Amino acid sequence: MAITEICTIIALKQLSPTHFDMILDAPKLSEMAKPGQFVSILCGHSRTLRRPISICDALEGTLRLVFEVRGEGTEYLSKRKVGDTLDVLGTLGCGTFPILDDDRPVLLIGGGIGAPPLLYTAKAQKAAHAVLGFRNEAAIVLKNDFYNACETLMIATDDGSFGAKGTIEAPARLLLSKNKYSAILACGPKPMLKAAQSLAEEFGIPCWLSMEERMGCGIGACLVCACKTKDENGEEKFSHVCKDGPVFPAEYMVW
Ligand SMILES: Cc1cc2nc3c(=O)[nH]c(=O)nc-3n(C[C@H](O)[C@H](O)[C@H](O)COP(=O)(O)OP(=O)(O)OC[C@H]3O[C@@H](n4cnc5c(N)ncnc54)[C@H](O)[C@@H]3O)c2cc1C
Ligand code: FES
Repeated sequence: MAITEICTIIALKQLSPTHFDMILDAPKLSEMAKPGQFVSILCGHSRTLRRPISICDALEGTLRLVFEVRGEGTEYLSKRKVGDTLDVLGTLGCGTFPILDDDRPVLLIGGGIGAPPLLYTAKAQKAAHAVLGFRNEAAIVLKNDFYNACETLMIATDDGSFGAKGTIEAPARLLLSKNKYSAILACGPKPMLKAAQSLAEEFGIPCWLSMEERMGCGIGACLVCACKTKDENGEEKFSHVCKDGPVFPAEYMVW
């Protein structure tokens, strides 16, 4: 069950002109966290809708969140100071990334602000390789963290300013043709998730996808985050990304 915890900001670092790295003192939420879950943060009392942010790491009573300023809620977060407190609801999401007890590594595929939850996921696995995609070199986040957490890391940028030029598809295909993976775990924009799903089908390995939808309540009480999925019998239905996800087995997605 989700709880609210009043968390003190113990570190806040600017990673790029628009990206921030925040560490919260969150003993209860940190204890509850699972890879792929998120928290929902009250961004000032005048904004009733909380903002969902993925758990980038949960370590020794703290939560790490990495976010991009997109609008007024995330701007509010970026303007906080060390010592300020935040009202944080969590941990949210029943659909989480699996922790695989397998000697083969998992292949993590992430893009943009889909990368942060994959760091916590990488650390939970026996072994992980990662392919991360970003707009350009300035938008790359968590490069050193992923180098430390993964046996192999490949980065692609849309404009070729760092790593491979283009999408994650070519570097991911290269790794898939050289190595045996237990699964693909992906988080990022929809075209990237679809590419991850097709690669998993082509190479015959299981795949889990973390979906990002606009959210209202974050706890399954409104319908803002509804997305179409299939059940085990192939019957189409609507699922709540916030409650049933955000991570779903790729074969359950209806695009
Ligand atoms: C499960 C989940 C995990 C996320 N994890 C991260 C993360 O780790 N780092 C990060 O930078 N961003 C993450 N996001 C996106 C982040 O929630 C939005 O960028 C943020 O809510 C935008 O709020 P805003 O007030 O700054 O922007 P505005 O556009 O002003 O927001 C207006 C409203 O729309 C909602 N909204 C806008 N964009 C999104 C969006 N993409 N997803 C969901 N709701 C949205 C807001 O919650 C708010 O209610 C995540 C989204 C989801 C659903
Ligand atoms: S955000 Fe309200 S049901 Fe998911």
